[in-house]
Amino acid sequence: MFFSLLFVSLLSFCSSAARNDEPIIGVLTQEVFSPKPNQSAYIAASYVKFLESAGARVVPVMINQTLEKYKTLFNSINGILYPGGGVSIISSGYQRAAKTFYELAIEANKRGDYFPVWGTCLGFEQLMSLSSGKNVLVHTNTSGVALPLNFTTGVKDSRIFKTFPTELMAALSSEPLTENSHQWSLGIDTYNTNEELRKFYKVLSTNTDGNTEFVSTVEAYDYPIYGTQWHPEKNAFEWSRSYIPHSPAAVKTTFYVAEFFVGEARRNFHRFESKEEENKALIYNYNPVYTGTTSSFEQIYYF
Ligand SMILES: *[C@@H]1O[C@H](CO)[C@@H](O)[C@H](O)[C@H]1NC(C)=O
Ligand SMILES: *[C@@H]1O[C@H](CO)[C@@H](O)[C@H](O)[C@H]1NC(C)=O
Ligand SMILES: *[C@@H]1O[C@H](CO)[C@@H](O)[C@H](O)[C@H]1NC(C)=O
Ligand SMILES: *[C@@H]1O[C@H](CO)[C@@H](O)[C@H](O)[C@H]1NC(C)=O
Repeated sequence: MFFSLLFVSLLSFCSSAARNDEPIIGVLTQEVFSPKPNQSAYIAASYVKFLESAGARVVPVMINQTLEKYKTLFNSINGILYPGGGVSIISSGYQRAAKTFYELAIEANKRGDYFPVWGTCLGFEQLMSLSSGKNVLVHTNTSGVALPLNFTTGVKDSRIFKTFPTELMAALSSEPLTENSHQWSLGIDTYNTNEELRKFYKVLSTNTDGNTEFVSTVEAYDYPIYGTQWHPEKNAFEWSRSYIPHSPAAVKTTFYVAEFFVGEARRNFHRFESKEEENKALIYNYNPVYTGTTSSFEQIYYF
């Protein structure tokens, strides 16, 4: 009796001590293609809703800030998401900020901190470029198509898919539930012959455009760094393109991915220096604009 009580209280102590129930995640902004006054950078609101749906709050990460500002922000947030988009992954404000946070994350994780990074589509491509130190992408015919995931054997003990229900895994591998909107990809042949990428990332799924087999989901072996070439956020939150899947399994995919990544962000206790600083930084200070009739996003936050 005494021992089992002790065991139970130790368990609950450990789980509550190790979990942050108020995670705040940074979402990287990027340059607007044709900037206007007060609209020089943006975030598609679906990335914000994606994270909010799993219990996180969001802070926009502005481009063109100083290293000092980024360091302070890094110590204030619990993870970062690099969204899809159309800017350069070699020279842009998006690339410079992504590189800075990537390096801060690697350094922090080496120290025993746990700071997760997620890249979607362009964000995935950005991660591949940062981890390999070069441009490794190949042109593919994948702009606007939903595909089933071709899981590798590595998926069995993956972190991302560990808590996905068996039926959802079956649906993901047989139905077109993952939306692809990209013209560039990491070919599996490139991955197989690139020492840096092979050592750093485990491939969890691939896809093909009919000619080129490309990497579609990765997780880093030794870091909480994750990437999907496909868009988990669109299934539940974007409607303006006919190829976005909205079936129950497709929508569950959005939530299971969000739940996974927000869970990763619950594993550190970075926080803003004060409640006032936190309030000033949150995305709630900005209003999304309805853009569904003119763009591929229903709503956009402009900065
Ligand atoms: C830009 O934003 C500032 C501050 O919010 C505002 O005072 C100004 O009127 C805005 N300019 C335009 C052109 O919307
Ligand atoms: C970022 O800086 C570049 C030049 O370095 C500039 O062209 C761009 O307009 C800036 N964008 C924002 C949103 O600050
Ligand atoms: C690209 O893929 C689409 C199907 O997603 C196909 O209809 C089209 O013919 C392909 N184009 C080329 C140039 O292969
Ligand atoms: C699925 O991936 C395997 C390797 O993991 C590859 O041999 C096979 O061709 C792929 N199939 C499709 C349909 O992409």
